[in-house]
Amino acid sequence: MARHLITSAIPYINGIKHLGNLVGSQLPADLYARYLRQRGHEVLFLCATDEHGTPAELAAAKAEKPVDVYCAEMHDVQAKIADGFRLSFDHFGRSSSPQNHKLTQAFATRLAEVGLIKEVTEKQVYSIADGRFLPDRYIEGTCPNCDFDSARGDQCDNCGKLLDPTDLINPYSTISGSTELEVRETKHLYLCQSALKDDLATWIDSKKDWPILTTSIAKKWLNDGDGLQDRGITRDLDWGVAVKQGDQTWPGMEGKVFYVWFDAPIEYIACAQEWEDAGKGTDWERWWRTDKGADDVTYTQFMGKDNVPFHTLSFPATILGSQEPWKLVDYIKSFNYLNYDGGQFSTSRGRGVFMDQALEILPPDYWRWWLLSHAPESSDAEFTWESFQQDVNKDLSDVLGNFVSRITKFCRSKFSEAVPEGGSHGPAETQLIADLTTRIRAFEGHMDTIEVRKAAAELRAIWVLGNEYLQANAPWSTFKTDPETAAMQVRLALNLVRIYAVLSAAFIPGTSSTMIAAMQTDDQSWPDDVAAALDTLPAGHTFTVPDNLFDKITDEQREDWAARFAGKRD
Ligand code: 2FM
Ligand code: ZN
Repeated sequence: MARHLITSAIPYINGIKHLGNLVGSQLPADLYARYLRQRGHEVLFLCATDEHGTPAELAAAKAEKPVDVYCAEMHDVQAKIADGFRLSFDHFGRSSSPQNHKLTQAFATRLAEVGLIKEVTEKQVYSIADGRFLPDRYIEGTCPNCDFDSARGDQCDNCGKLLDPTDLINPYSTISGSTELEVRETKHLYLCQSALKDDLATWIDSKKDWPILTTSIAKKWLNDGDGLQDRGITRDLDWGVAVKQGDQTWPGMEGKVFYVWFDAPIEYIACAQEWEDAGKGTDWERWWRTDKGADDVTYTQFMGKDNVPFHTLSFPATILGSQEPWKLVDYIKSFNYLNYDGGQFSTSRGRGVFMDQALEILPPDYWRWWLLSHAPESSDAEFTWESFQQDVNKDLSDVLGNFVSRITKFCRSKFSEAVPEGGSHGPAETQLIADLTTRIRAFEGHMDTIEVRKAAAELRAIWVLGNEYLQANAPWSTFKTDPETAAMQVRLALNLVRIYAVLSAAFIPGTSSTMIAAMQTDDQSWPDDVAAALDTLPAGHTFTVPDNLFDKITDEQREDWAARFAGKRD
């Protein structure tokens, strides 16, 4: 039994996330956490809301609420939706927690002690109309790199380039729209990341097993110089972690806060403290301090590709730079984007399906299955209603749902609601056991290496084996001439229902629970030995016929939903 720390990129507080966000971090992280727990490992799975910075301030202003009130409300909203999708976080924390404030200040203080923080007087855009500096998203304009006309002050959403507000062409304030802007001097703290370049390069080079997507982004940023410039880690904002040295003011930094990308990843650590402080566990340091046992921990992070530079370079720079024994990430699983029906998801235009809406129209397992089986691993993927309807109907309804319903109903009608007795395995069963064993071992391999699509394909193939067995051996025909053999076939298939529930639990936990409940068993042991697993429910064991596991998506529903989520026109 090993120990696994798992974190999902922490979603911004400003609003409800769409399905593309979900499949790029929280959902695959949950899949992996659930699987490892099932295999007997000790898991700490953490996520939180990312509550600081301009996105939070702007969203609160739009909602006409004080930012702390807005964040508290939105945290609860996101937590409820996460529960709705059955995301099994051990703790869903908040980057605005006192723990994170303290830890962020401690990291900055430590980095200053070891000489990795410098004070820089820089030129920032000041809005005369708004009477304030305009950091990051408070300013937009044309990207100097790709001409995109609403690039933000910190990054261009079109070409991905990191920007400085002063780089923008034709800039304007996103608060007032004012173009009456001037450049003023202001002092900020910079993290001397460039001093850590060699250490970071050696560390990244040592990660031979990382996904290509992760290492290619990391190396590009490391080597083209863009990513490893010394960067400002403070901002002229009200909301955030105050720039302090421990409890003391930081001379010259009064009224400033840390940059959201400095404190957000530190929340991964603070979240473990919150978990302990909430009474959900003990000894958070065992997960995070290599001098307190975290040497034995395998740490895996999940995120969309836009987050990779911050997790391969900036946050490791904070950790390595501190020269303190913090746990560094072992494996970074990153994802491409999920597009929506020929374009992008768009929050501002309400285009695409958002997490709350998804749960309003269908239970979580429909979404979990489609999203995970189409995870954008090797390239961007696309959600279309046709694909969703077709795959859900085929995989979940025709294959899995039909298998469970057919065998439980047949048993009830010809035998009883108890596993029938009699008969013994023949060549068909020996072959099925061999095929299942091969496929289950392959499934485990893909789950162990977090190859989500391959794992889903293997799971589907395992379900198909059951249907093919029933089709080829037709207990309903056998029953007429050889009820003993039919009893054996039915007994095997009922045991397969339990095995399928166990294997499918990480993908479709709700359905898995329904199947386990119907089979009236507490035994959720993993099918290490398939032949033995097929004897788990003995003759005479009672069960119930579950309600239909999945309803088919009709053409009418598909058309309705496609129209409803198409978004407003600009
Ligand atoms: O891209 C995002 O949604 C960010 N809020 C992710 C932060 S992940 C981490 F560093 F905290
Ligand atoms: Zn651009």
